[in-house]
Amino acid sequence: MIRLFRVTNFRCLEKAELKLGPRFNLIHGANASGKTSLLEALAYLGRGKSFRGASTSNLTRHGESEFVLFGELEQSHGRNSVGVRNSRAGLEVRIGGENAPGAAALAQSLPLQVIDPEVHNLIAGGPELRRRFLDWIAFHVEHDHLQTWRRFRRALKQRNAALRAKSTEAAIRSWNAEFLILAKELDDCRRRVLELTIDSLQEYGRQLLESELGFEYQRGWSRDKDLELALDEGLEKDQQLGSTQSGPHRADLKVSTDERQARKLVSRGQQKLLASSMILAATETAQSALERPLLLLLDDPAAELDGDSIDRLMSAVAALGCQVVATSLDSETLVFPETPKVFHVEQGAVTVSAQKVSTSGN
Ligand SMILES: Nc1ncnc2c1ncn2[C@@H]1O[C@H](COP(=O)(O)OP(=O)(O)OP(=O)(O)O)[C@@H](O)[C@H]1O
Ligand SMILES: [Mg+2]
Repeated sequence: MIRLFRVTNFRCLEKAELKLGPRFNLIHGANASGKTSLLEALAYLGRGKSFRGASTSNLTRHGESEFVLFGELEQSHGRNSVGVRNSRAGLEVRIGGENAPGAAALAQSLPLQVIDPEVHNLIAGGPELRRRFLDWIAFHVEHDHLQTWRRFRRALKQRNAALRAKSTEAAIRSWNAEFLILAKELDDCRRRVLELTIDSLQEYGRQLLESELGFEYQRGWSRDKDLELALDEGLEKDQQLGSTQSGPHRADLKVSTDERQARKLVSRGQQKLLASSMILAATETAQSALERPLLLLLDDPAAELDGDSIDRLMSAVAALGCQVVATSLDSETLVFPETPKVFHVEQGAVTVSAQKVSTSGN
């Protein structure tokens, strides 16, 4: 878990230091005070990128040339530190005071998940977010996943480059062998991950939505053909389009509630609860594999949810046992099972707030 967090020149935050509580933390403040920026900075420290999809250059405070983030971590085997500096020279990552190779090293040091007002896109958006959802769990529970995924992406790129260069069929086919081996490894891995997570996914679905959730992994090519045949039969189309149309890069995770397709659920609130169930299940699965509490960032969790729904979400979050940092416009809306550490943010300046917060334990 992260105990001390320092941020310099990130978005509207000039300089801030937060001594975070081990369990629950609440950051409150008016609109545009810098709440999401603080969570985004924390998430950047564990991912090397923004969860708002912003390019790194937009994250540096206007008029400055670099931002710096630093965290002191408490881990079962002792203390560690992570630091990130982004300047014109690029991104520098340091773990335990040593240069580290980048985002994967950050994700291993500070594994985290985010529930923010855009979380419903996990249901309403395209398949890429759902593939990433499965791959995030895989990254934390299976040692080889990252390596396999990178090698697959390279093979795919090379095959696509051959397609675009209008290479001969033999040249295109020469990429198939590697592509097929890695595709199978990725596909098998995602299936194992879904099997590992499914009970938890369904349990959170019952808790948050009182619904039976269904999850069907679609592997990215026809159900009744093996991939080799699909590549052969699809060659002409691949050549026309200049990219490979079959493979695990086209996979999806179909989600249904009470046997209806979840994407067609009209209510935004339900989509948010459903997506949150998925995030909590992923967090729980990774947490038990890693045997340490993860960091869960909740940006304005109350948005779009009625009183009962937000209470259900917060109870499920509390039971998960992770370290939580949540934001809210005020200090009353979110109810925690025990007193959180409370911070107030105003125009990018953070202070520890002495304000009383009600808890469900009261
Ligand atoms: N690179 C930047 N440099 C300086 N200020 C920035 C930068 N990027 C964003 N801002 C400003 O930071 C302020 C805080 O934004 P942020 O999204 O953190 O607010 P918030 O407290 O989450 O607000 P809300 O309650 O509306 O969600 C905004 O006024 C925004 O314009
Ligand atoms: Mg915000």
